[in-house]
Amino acid sequence: MKKLFVKTYGCQMNVYDSARMAEALAPAGYVATAAPAEADMILLNTCHIREKAAEKLFSDLGRLAPLKARAGGRLVVAVAGCVAQAEGDEILRRAKSVDIVVGPQSYHRLPDLAAAAERGARPVDTEFPAESKFDRLPARGASGVGAFLSVQEGCDKFCSFCVVPYTRGAEASRPAAAVLAEARTLAARGARELTLLGQNVNAYHGAAPDGGTWGLGRLVRALAEIPELLRLRYTTSHPADMDDALVAAHRDEEKLMPFLHLPVQSGSDRMLRDMNRRHRAADYRRIADKLRVARPDIALSSDFIVGFPGESDADFAATLDLVRAIGFAQAFSFKYSPRPGTPAALRDDQVPEPVKVERLAALQALLSEQQARFNAGFTGRVVEVLFEKRGRHAGQLAGRSPWLQAVHAAAPPTLLGRVATVRVAAVEPNSLAGVLPEAAA
Ligand code: 5AD
Ligand code: SF4
Repeated sequence: MKKLFVKTYGCQMNVYDSARMAEALAPAGYVATAAPAEADMILLNTCHIREKAAEKLFSDLGRLAPLKARAGGRLVVAVAGCVAQAEGDEILRRAKSVDIVVGPQSYHRLPDLAAAAERGARPVDTEFPAESKFDRLPARGASGVGAFLSVQEGCDKFCSFCVVPYTRGAEASRPAAAVLAEARTLAARGARELTLLGQNVNAYHGAAPDGGTWGLGRLVRALAEIPELLRLRYTTSHPADMDDALVAAHRDEEKLMPFLHLPVQSGSDRMLRDMNRRHRAADYRRIADKLRVARPDIALSSDFIVGFPGESDADFAATLDLVRAIGFAQAFSFKYSPRPGTPAALRDDQVPEPVKVERLAALQALLSEQQARFNAGFTGRVVEVLFEKRGRHAGQLAGRSPWLQAVHAAAPPTLLGRVATVRVAAVEPNSLAGVLPEAAA
């Protein structure tokens, strides 16, 4: 038996991929360990989205070198994910401790690559094979209460700041039947909430069982029919792909949770144009309005980039205006990071670092205030919580509200994997403290 230590960087797609890579290696005799020092293989599943994320890999590889030296030839170090795809064999040159480089479309080949590495080779596989890796991977193993399911990969949008179209390739959707089959397996193995994943998940257009094509709205409806599944979510979406069928699914499907991560990046039409986002600020507001008509309790989350090349004070002010107009429950915001090979990186009107720092602080202050206000509104309210795991303290369970807020409450373990009604007793910085009505009575 060999031990596998996996570290995942970046997005939820990588979390999903890491799970499937571990499953792919299981038949080759690898079992998971949480201790890198006892591992026979260390697998780093990397992220290339911003410079900081990519640099993290190389600093971690530096720290692995002594471990590798101590283990002699026994330890295999594999770099997977988007840095692997983007940098390929350059990684082997830069980091002597690396034995395997494997891109996101090739990880079904990991057992072969591991065998080659054990024989002393340093294989690199960053192909985009014609045949989908999904057809070659073993069936899903045990599942937690919440599970991820990749339904779509890649992106054809080519936002001018983003490496994803280069690292993850063209948009491709899995056939609906394959998604439904994986969802049923996960449900049978304990999943109660599914988060459908894709770099551009609402661009989903999978082959349908009836020979046509399904969009994401239709897919959600089909998944909602699986009785064990209590909750559905999807991420990450693009405003331009928010079609009426999907909005209608938010209206009609109780299982589709009222929380949507819908990145807007900027509130300035000039920036949105230069970013090649394919919509204006007003379009985003219209979409938010439509969603709120369809599902009045829906909460929105977003991504923002400050300091995109050419961003003026007025452009940034437009972003703050949009944030005030929409009101976000949660958000991620980033300083623009020039990425090799992307058009925006070549522009000569880059925004100075101190300006980026200042804008990021101002935006984050506003977003944190909105998030705090959103959460504060829950004091005393009754919410439905899906309990996912034991809490930090004895006798506690931890779960999520429909709005993805972390909730903990004193509750019996029999409630694991079930939805319970909880009264919010206190709003803490990172979670809601809940009380079961039975406990309160
Ligand atoms: N610089 C900063 N942020 C970026 N993102 C993507 N590319 C860049 C970049 N070059 C952000 C976007 C995207 C999120 C996943 O990462 O906001 O929605
Ligand atoms: Fe990147 Fe834009 Fe595609 Fe999102 S839509 S993955 S930001 S290119």
